[in-house]
Amino acid sequence: MNNNQTAIETHHLTRKFGEVIAVADLDLNIARGEIFGFLGPNGAGKSTTIRMLCGILRPTSGSGSVGGYDIIKQPEQIKSVIGYMSQSFGLYSDLTVEENLAFYSRVYLRDWRQAKQKREAIIETMGFGQYRNQLSARLSGGWKQRLALACAVVHEPQILFLDEPTAGIDPVSRRILWDILYELSRSKGITLFVTTHYMEEAERCHKIGFIWRGRLVACDSPDNVKSRIMTDELLNLKCSDIHAAFETLSKSGKVVDVNIYGDELHIVVPNVREGAETVRGLMAEARVEIYLLEPIAASIEDVFVSLSRKN
Ligand SMILES: Nc1ncnc2c1ncn2[C@@H]1O[C@H](COP(=O)(O)OP(=O)(O)OP(=O)(O)O)[C@@H](O)[C@H]1O
Ligand SMILES: [Mg+2]
Repeated sequence: MNNNQTAIETHHLTRKFGEVIAVADLDLNIARGEIFGFLGPNGAGKSTTIRMLCGILRPTSGSGSVGGYDIIKQPEQIKSVIGYMSQSFGLYSDLTVEENLAFYSRVYLRDWRQAKQKREAIIETMGFGQYRNQLSARLSGGWKQRLALACAVVHEPQILFLDEPTAGIDPVSRRILWDILYELSRSKGITLFVTTHYMEEAERCHKIGFIWRGRLVACDSPDNVKSRIMTDELLNLKCSDIHAAFETLSKSGKVVDVNIYGDELHIVVPNVREGAETVRGLMAEARVEIYLLEPIAASIEDVFVSLSRKN
């Protein structure tokens, strides 16, 4: 059942490529105005899902709607309400910044005067002023990405699909891009469907879905995903020899999991109090000095790693 509050909905959505099941039995429900983060390892089925939702790839079975339109029967109507920035977005490298925006605005908007107004507004709000007449081929990676985003939103879509919009750009540019996304969500109520491999970006979404080999294995707010999926607890360890500690803990069979984060170890245990005792014992045997051992809250990255291992 679709209602006005729902932006994106799928039921048993499935896509096969020969023997490969790229997306399996996917049920999604994304509310209007929501920022939805779609996570999963390489080849999990994220881009395939987006392509079906945009009406450019036919599902093998199942159904779905975007902006109230059926993804199988009404792909043309869907194109009128969405923006799509693909993983290998298509900027015209021999066109300038302004010409690229002109092209995309005219594809979507019949009224040329309106197209020009929207494009001027985007040039202003996204800070393209000084680059207006520059060939897009000469922009840096981060600015190319920003221009691709501008092209995807120049017609002011209700729903925006962004496939790894921040891949390969520096942390500051990534933050700027996210500020722009937040502003679109806040001021225009645009629904955002975003894939990313950056876990700190996942933390900023209203809801996240985690897909593994085509199957949705978790879907909820970041806080709920953390508290419901990570039923185990986490210890953070700083010590005199991180590699010896890692070896000892992983071979001991006495902890659920252990991962290296910079100069710290995150140790997954059923219970932090007993777990800490076990770790102290093991470190003493291995003659590793403990600088810090404390319980910590799981991050999305911990959950991601834990889900990947479990599956
Ligand atoms: N056109 C195609 N023909 C055959 N197989 C395909 C096609 N497109 C995708 N696949 C396969 O479907 C699966 C899912 O691919 P998809 O591109 O959706 O993954 P993804 O989650 O977007 O990965 P990444 O994080 O690397 O972008 C993979 O096994 C991929 O090889
Ligand atoms: Mg992809």
